[in-house]
Amino acid sequence: MTTDTSSIASRSGLAQIELYPPDLKPCSMDLSDNTNLWGAPPNAERIIREGAMRSPARYPEPYSESLKDALSGYVGVDPSHIVVGCGSDDVLDSSIRAFGEPGERIALPDPTFSMLPFFARANGLEISFVTLTADYDMDVERTLALDAKITYICSPGNPTGTVIPRKTIEAIVAGTHGLVIIDEAYFEFCGETSTNVLPVTCGDATAVMLMPSLTTVVMSLTSDSVIAALVVLHVELKLNQLATTNSLKVVRPYDAAK
Ligand SMILES: Cc1ncc(COP(=O)(O)O)c(C=O)c1O
Repeated sequence: MTTDTSSIASRSGLAQIELYPPDLKPCSMDLSDNTNLWGAPPNAERIIREGAMRSPARYPEPYSESLKDALSGYVGVDPSHIVVGCGSDDVLDSSIRAFGEPGERIALPDPTFSMLPFFARANGLEISFVTLTADYDMDVERTLALDAKITYICSPGNPTGTVIPRKTIEAIVAGTHGLVIIDEAYFEFCGETSTNVLPVTCGDATAVMLMPSLTTVVMSLTSDSVIAALVVLHVELKLNQLATTNSLKVVRPYDAAK
């Protein structure tokens, strides 16, 4: 007997989501994709060429302990405050799912990284866009007035390329009761991070995750509750052997050179 699956409904709202438009237009510096303008790191290329990893047919360490140790040296936080995932996209999607109940509000700057509305809609959240100010800063007053469950900050911003001032980030973190995601996927272009803001401003009611990006693996530094929620969602089990080995090789020399 065959079953006609055409009438099985997917989650409400999914059918209305438009596909990501890969309409890349030529420009002098493209910050719309988190890709490396200088090409693959030589160490990563060598690993692929020489097959210098444990069998790629095997899973890597389930919770990426060695990688977290290496990243801990790079960002200067304890490995227990780091989660690795399969690119920042996956960490963003998973954290929205982990903290946003369908129907709850997410505050997004406008314009912002175009995947955020996708992840928000796919997880059933209500989106409130807050237009950036004339100098591409976030509008703190309007953002806080939303009392959103999740607030997204992108610094340096995609597509603006500008850094959100520290006082703005501090004000949003201090005035929010939900999760604040600080996406620093382009940290290496500006060298400014909020890592040192968090211990000062992070109140009990606010959970903050920070996402400096490094190669294809991303880490989040945050309070224990955020780490626990992401680990439960198995973001770390999605890493394959190649990503883990590559990242280890790239992070260690980078860290040693500091
Ligand atoms: C601001 C920002 N965050 C995250 C990502 C996703 O990066 P990844 O390739 O690590 O998933 C991008 C990619 O364009 C981005 O622009």
